[in-house]
Amino acid sequence: MKNSIFVLPLLQLCLLSQSLLPLSFSNSIHEVLLRNGLPAGLFPKDVKSFSLSETGVLEVYLERPCLTKFDNRVFYETVVRANLSYGALKNVSGLSQEELFLWLPVKDIIVDDPTSGLILFDIVVAHKELSLSLFECPPDCRPGLGSEYLLKIEGEDKGFEVQ
Ligand SMILES: *[C@@H]1O[C@H](CO)[C@@H](O)[C@H](O)[C@H]1NC(C)=O
Ligand SMILES: *[C@@H]1O[C@H](CO)[C@@H](O)[C@H](O)[C@H]1NC(C)=O
Repeated sequence: MKNSIFVLPLLQLCLLSQSLLPLSFSNSIHEVLLRNGLPAGLFPKDVKSFSLSETGVLEVYLERPCLTKFDNRVFYETVVRANLSYGALKNVSGLSQEELFLWLPVKDIIVDDPTSGLILFDIVVAHKELSLSLFECPPDCRPGLGSEYLLKIEGEDKGFEVQ
Protein backbone atom coordinates (compact mmCIF):
# COMPACT_ATOMS: atom_id res chain seq x y z
CA MET A 1 0.00 0.00 0.00
CA LYS A 2 1.40 3.35 -1.00
CA ASN A 3 -1.52 5.63 -0.28
CA SER A 4 0.79 7.83 1.73
CA ILE A 5 2.36 9.00 -1.52
CA PHE A 6 -0.69 11.12 -2.11
CA VAL A 7 -0.45 13.00 1.15
CA LEU A 8 0.96 16.45 0.53
CA PRO A 9 2.93 16.80 3.79
CA LEU A 10 4.98 13.87 2.66
CA LEU A 11 6.03 15.83 -0.40
CA GLN A 12 7.09 18.67 1.84
CA LEU A 13 9.22 16.26 3.82
CA CYS A 14 10.53 14.84 0.61
CA LEU A 15 11.56 18.26 -0.68
CA LEU A 16 12.95 19.42 2.65
CA SER A 17 14.97 16.28 3.07
CA GLN A 18 16.56 17.11 -0.24
CA SER A 19 17.22 20.64 1.05
CA LEU A 20 14.99 22.28 -1.48
CA LEU A 21 13.07 25.19 -0.04
CA PRO A 22 9.45 24.89 -1.10
CA LEU A 23 9.29 28.50 -2.26
CA SER A 24 6.78 28.13 -5.03
CA PHE A 25 5.54 24.97 -3.45
CA SER A 26 1.83 25.57 -3.69
CA ASN A 27 2.18 25.82 -7.44
CA SER A 28 4.89 23.33 -8.15
CA ILE A 29 4.65 20.70 -10.82
CA HIS A 30 5.11 18.17 -8.05
CA GLU A 31 2.01 19.35 -6.28
CA VAL A 32 0.07 19.29 -9.53
CA LEU A 33 1.08 15.68 -9.99
CA LEU A 34 0.01 14.76 -6.47
CA ARG A 35 -3.34 16.49 -6.88
CA ASN A 36 -3.85 14.40 -9.97
CA GLY A 37 -3.16 11.08 -8.31
CA LEU A 38 0.37 10.78 -9.69
CA PRO A 39 3.63 10.50 -7.75
CA ALA A 40 5.67 13.69 -7.38
CA GLY A 41 8.87 12.01 -8.48
CA LEU A 42 7.81 11.64 -12.09
CA PHE A 43 9.52 14.96 -12.75
CA PRO A 44 12.92 15.94 -11.42
CA LYS A 45 13.55 18.51 -8.74
CA ASP A 46 14.81 21.31 -10.94
CA VAL A 47 11.89 21.98 -13.22
CA LYS A 48 12.19 25.53 -14.56
CA SER A 49 8.52 26.11 -15.27
CA PHE A 50 5.43 24.41 -16.53
CA SER A 51 2.06 25.19 -18.00
CA LEU A 52 -1.20 23.34 -17.78
CA SER A 53 -4.01 24.24 -20.15
CA GLU A 54 -7.69 23.97 -19.32
CA THR A 55 -7.87 20.94 -21.54
CA GLY A 56 -5.13 19.22 -19.55
CA VAL A 57 -2.20 19.73 -21.89
CA LEU A 58 0.85 19.81 -19.65
CA GLU A 59 4.17 21.29 -20.75
CA VAL A 60 7.14 21.00 -18.43
CA TYR A 61 10.29 23.00 -19.08
CA LEU A 62 13.65 21.92 -17.72
CA GLU A 63 16.87 23.92 -17.66
CA ARG A 64 18.50 21.39 -19.92
CA PRO A 65 18.02 17.82 -21.08
CA CYS A 66 18.85 15.51 -18.22
CA LEU A 67 19.17 11.98 -17.07
CA THR A 68 17.99 10.21 -13.98
CA LYS A 69 17.25 6.70 -12.88
CA PHE A 70 14.23 4.90 -11.49
CA ASP A 71 14.44 1.21 -12.27
CA ASN A 72 16.30 2.02 -15.45
CA ARG A 73 17.71 5.26 -16.74
CA VAL A 74 15.27 7.89 -17.87
CA PHE A 75 16.03 10.85 -20.12
CA TYR A 76 14.09 14.11 -20.04
CA GLU A 77 14.28 16.47 -22.97
CA THR A 78 14.12 20.21 -22.26
CA VAL A 79 10.39 20.22 -22.91
CA VAL A 80 8.20 17.32 -21.85
CA ARG A 81 4.59 17.41 -23.02
CA ALA A 82 1.67 15.22 -22.04
CA ASN A 83 -2.06 15.19 -21.56
CA LEU A 84 -2.72 15.20 -17.87
CA SER A 85 -5.82 13.63 -16.43
CA TYR A 86 -6.46 12.05 -13.05
CA GLY A 87 -4.02 9.20 -12.62
CA ALA A 88 -2.56 9.51 -16.10
CA LEU A 89 -0.08 11.26 -18.32
CA LYS A 90 -0.94 10.32 -21.89
CA ASN A 91 0.65 10.96 -25.25
CA VAL A 92 3.86 11.91 -23.50
CA SER A 93 6.65 13.39 -25.58
CA GLY A 94 10.17 14.30 -24.50
CA LEU A 95 10.66 11.38 -22.13
CA SER A 96 12.62 8.22 -22.92
CA GLN A 97 13.57 5.18 -20.96
CA GLU A 98 16.48 2.85 -21.42
CA GLU A 99 15.53 -0.75 -22.00
CA LEU A 100 18.07 -3.36 -22.95
CA PHE A 101 20.46 -0.67 -24.21
CA LEU A 102 17.85 1.04 -26.34
CA TRP A 103 16.23 4.37 -25.61
CA LEU A 104 12.50 4.06 -26.04
CA PRO A 105 9.95 6.86 -25.87
CA VAL A 106 7.58 6.72 -22.92
CA LYS A 107 4.06 7.21 -24.28
CA ASP A 108 1.72 6.80 -21.32
CA ILE A 109 2.18 6.76 -17.56
CA ILE A 110 -0.84 5.48 -15.67
CA VAL A 111 -1.78 4.86 -12.06
CA ASP A 112 -4.98 2.85 -12.34
CA ASP A 113 -5.24 1.81 -8.77
CA PRO A 114 -3.09 3.57 -6.18
CA THR A 115 -3.74 0.81 -3.65
CA SER A 116 -1.88 -1.59 -5.93
CA GLY A 117 1.28 0.43 -5.34
CA LEU A 118 2.01 0.13 -9.06
CA ILE A 119 2.51 2.57 -11.88
CA LEU A 120 2.29 1.55 -15.51
CA PHE A 121 4.78 2.78 -18.10
CA ASP A 122 3.79 2.28 -21.70
CA ILE A 123 7.02 2.45 -23.67
CA VAL A 124 5.50 1.71 -27.06
CA VAL A 125 6.89 -1.78 -27.45
CA ALA A 126 6.04 -2.89 -23.95
CA HIS A 127 4.14 -2.13 -20.81
CA LYS A 128 6.00 -2.09 -17.54
CA GLU A 129 4.60 -2.07 -14.08
CA LEU A 130 6.86 -0.41 -11.56
CA SER A 131 6.56 0.21 -7.88
CA LEU A 132 5.09 3.63 -7.10
CA SER A 133 7.59 3.91 -4.28
CA LEU A 134 10.33 4.50 -6.86
CA PHE A 135 8.66 7.82 -7.67
CA GLU A 136 7.97 9.26 -4.26
CA CYS A 137 10.59 12.00 -4.33
CA PRO A 138 11.48 14.24 -7.24
CA PRO A 139 14.89 12.95 -8.29
CA ASP A 140 18.10 14.75 -9.09
CA CYS A 141 18.47 14.87 -12.81
CA ARG A 142 21.92 15.32 -14.27
CA PRO A 143 23.18 16.47 -17.61
CA GLY A 144 25.83 14.14 -18.91
CA LEU A 145 24.16 11.91 -21.39
CA GLY A 146 26.87 11.04 -23.87
CA SER A 147 26.34 12.13 -27.44
CA GLU A 148 26.10 8.48 -28.43
CA TYR A 149 22.86 8.24 -26.46
CA LEU A 150 21.50 11.47 -27.86
CA LEU A 151 21.98 10.08 -31.33
CA LYS A 152 20.12 6.96 -30.36
CA ILE A 153 17.23 8.95 -28.98
CA GLU A 154 16.98 11.01 -32.12
CA GLY A 155 17.11 7.81 -34.10
CA GLU A 156 14.32 6.31 -32.02
CA ASP A 157 12.17 9.38 -32.33
CA LYS A 158 12.57 9.51 -36.08
CA GLY A 159 11.79 5.84 -36.29
CA PHE A 160 8.55 6.29 -34.43
CA GLU A 161 7.52 9.39 -36.30
CA VAL A 162 7.76 7.52 -39.57
CA GLN A 163 5.13 5.02 -38.45
C1 LIG B 1 -4.64 15.78 -25.61
O1 LIG B 1 -5.31 17.00 -25.45
C2 LIG B 1 -5.65 17.62 -26.68
C3 LIG B 1 -6.24 18.99 -26.37
O2 LIG B 1 -7.27 18.88 -25.47
C4 LIG B 1 -6.62 16.72 -27.42
O3 LIG B 1 -6.95 17.30 -28.65
C5 LIG B 1 -5.99 15.37 -27.64
O4 LIG B 1 -6.88 14.50 -28.27
C6 LIG B 1 -5.52 14.79 -26.33
N1 LIG B 1 -4.76 13.57 -26.59
C7 LIG B 1 -4.87 12.46 -25.85
C8 LIG B 1 -4.01 11.32 -26.25
O5 LIG B 1 -5.62 12.38 -24.89
C1 LIG C 1 0.48 13.82 -29.09
O1 LIG C 1 1.52 14.74 -28.84
C2 LIG C 1 2.10 15.27 -30.00
C3 LIG C 1 3.31 16.09 -29.59
O2 LIG C 1 3.11 16.74 -28.38
C4 LIG C 1 1.04 16.08 -30.75
O3 LIG C 1 1.60 16.64 -31.90
C5 LIG C 1 -0.11 15.16 -31.11
O4 LIG C 1 -1.13 15.91 -31.71
C6 LIG C 1 -0.65 14.47 -29.88
N1 LIG C 1 -1.61 13.44 -30.27
C7 LIG C 1 -2.77 13.26 -29.61
C8 LIG C 1 -3.62 12.15 -30.09
O5 LIG C 1 -3.08 13.95 -28.66
